[in-house]
Amino acid sequence: MGIMSRSSMWVTVAVLVTVGVLPMLAMASDADPLQDFCVAYPSDKVVINGQPCKPSAEVTYKDFWSPALTKPGITKNPNLSNVTQAFVAQFPGLNTLGIGAARIDFAKGGINPPHTHPRATELLLVVKGELYVGFVDTTNKLFAVILREGELFVFPRGLVHFQLNVGNGPALAFAALNSQNPGTQQIAPALFTPEDIKDEVLEKGFRIDGKTVDFIQEQFRKT
Ligand SMILES: *[C@@H]1O[C@H](CO)[C@@H](O)[C@H](O)[C@H]1NC(C)=O
Ligand SMILES: *[C@@H]1O[C@H](CO)[C@@H](O)[C@H](O)[C@H]1NC(C)=O
Repeated sequence: MGIMSRSSMWVTVAVLVTVGVLPMLAMASDADPLQDFCVAYPSDKVVINGQPCKPSAEVTYKDFWSPALTKPGITKNPNLSNVTQAFVAQFPGLNTLGIGAARIDFAKGGINPPHTHPRATELLLVVKGELYVGFVDTTNKLFAVILREGELFVFPRGLVHFQLNVGNGPALAFAALNSQNPGTQQIAPALFTPEDIKDEVLEKGFRIDGKTVDFIQEQFRKT
């Protein structure tokens, strides 16, 4: 250390900051917990980023257990699929832990339509059946594959992704997401459901005519 010149010390500091801090920013996700746990304890008086904590003395193992994903969702709907969530709203013990889960049931031919999770990366495990899954990156390049039982696929945070049941019967998948509240934005409904959006935005945005806009809006407004 004694023979290190002042400028080489600054180079060392710059390298340490670059390799140490930038990857941390790139991996930013839910905030780190400030205590062992903070079981969600919703209050109408306290508003924070997350949920207030249940008093520790009242916390039991039940707060860290959830039956939320035990039952299949009903797939009698236009998607022929159903996402059942286990996020902080359904499972208060997840509060501040930066993790959540879901199960996705598919009837034959069912789809989980293109959508994004603004706050989470998603790791999908196929338990039954065969799913054509994929995501599109910000250069519009597709990364897709047919997943079989036991196989995993990861959808990077914020990118548009989908799953389609291409097997001969129903399919089942479970997902783990690195947020207690990942948020879901459905691509088509986000744009074609709002009543007050100017048609011109959709006509020019999708390069389609007004009749086509009306037709697509009708599909999403009736369900
Ligand atoms: C998903 O399944 C649940 C539980 O069976 C049901 O209450 C819900 O209506 C279903 N959602 C859709 C969109 O079919
Ligand atoms: C089914 O599709 C609609 C419209 O695309 C969407 O809003 C909804 O969240 C989907 N439900 C699923 C995948 O269960």
